Amino acid sequence: MSDFVKQNVQWFPGHMAKTGRQIRENLRLVDAVAEILDARAPRASANPDIARMTAGKPRIVLLNKCDLADDIVTAAWVRHFAATGLTAIPVDCKTGRGLKQFKTALSRHVEGKTRSNLAKGMAGKAVRVMVLGIPNTGKSTFINKLAGRKKAQTADKPGVTRQNQWFPIGAGLEMLDTPGVLWPKFDDPAVGDKLSFIGAVKDSVTDTQTVASRLLALLAERCPGRLQARYALDTPLALDGAALLESVALKRGMRAAGGQPDTERAAAVFLDEFRGGKLGRISLETPEEA
Ligand code: G4P
Repeated sequence: MSDFVKQNVQWFPGHMAKTGRQIRENLRLVDAVAEILDARAPRASANPDIARMTAGKPRIVLLNKCDLADDIVTAAWVRHFAATGLTAIPVDCKTGRGLKQFKTALSRHVEGKTRSNLAKGMAGKAVRVMVLGIPNTGKSTFINKLAGRKKAQTADKPGVTRQNQWFPIGAGLEMLDTPGVLWPKFDDPAVGDKLSFIGAVKDSVTDTQTVASRLLALLAERCPGRLQARYALDTPLALDGAALLESVALKRGMRAAGGQPDTERAAAVFLDEFRGGKLGRISLETPEEA
């Protein structure tokens, strides 16, 4: 196992086993699943066990944060999922783009269940769905947007046990108000890197400067113009991430004591800007590459 993967195994919260149990229990209660991925890295942000966990239930893939990803690449992912028999929908939870399409697709996918409820004399019985995904993909934001809530309901008050709650989303459908949190699962360090870049793996367990250097090297290869434009870097760009990070620090006037480039600060600022979409809409993987 690489150091990187080892580091991230330590990051997995201790409550993940408990969460796994809860997910299995909740899955028994639902008729369909909405899997939330990050549109910038749909393969890296997927948990490969999900197909097995949700076997037999309709599953819709949501490519969330599509506002941060390249539309052309996102469209290629939609086609890729369609070719494997899955409906994938680009979603932007900030504006609500894709939510209506999600509800329409969901109604279509659960038609069989609705018909069987009708045949059993349970015409009014709601068809239930839950949201699954790795941390930070936007599960809570998605649920809140669908429920018309401003902020997440939290269950972290000591002594308060929250029961499952369901809310209607139209067309006889109900959604579970707490998402299932899956763990990222990967052996490939490149997948771990992408999870760090999009903020799905916390910076506190990785070295920010290493993460920033690796992302700079990747972007220098994929979209040098974006880096050049944002940080006024000299062309041709260096392909070495550490050298690029120094250039970013210097161009932004970030110097540590002694006049050295303050690469620590530059790394934090650069990652923040990338994650906030300041460098433009950038996808980190295409179906062909993944
Ligand atoms: P989670 O439940 O899956 O862990 O994710 P959560 O909803 O907490 O969302 C994680 C971050 O992603 C939040 O930002 C949220 O606002 C942002 N987000 C969710 N959906 C979208 C989207 O479609 N587009 C964009 N651009 N961002 C999205 P945050 O910085 O952690 O919090 P805040 O700034 O919203 O307070």
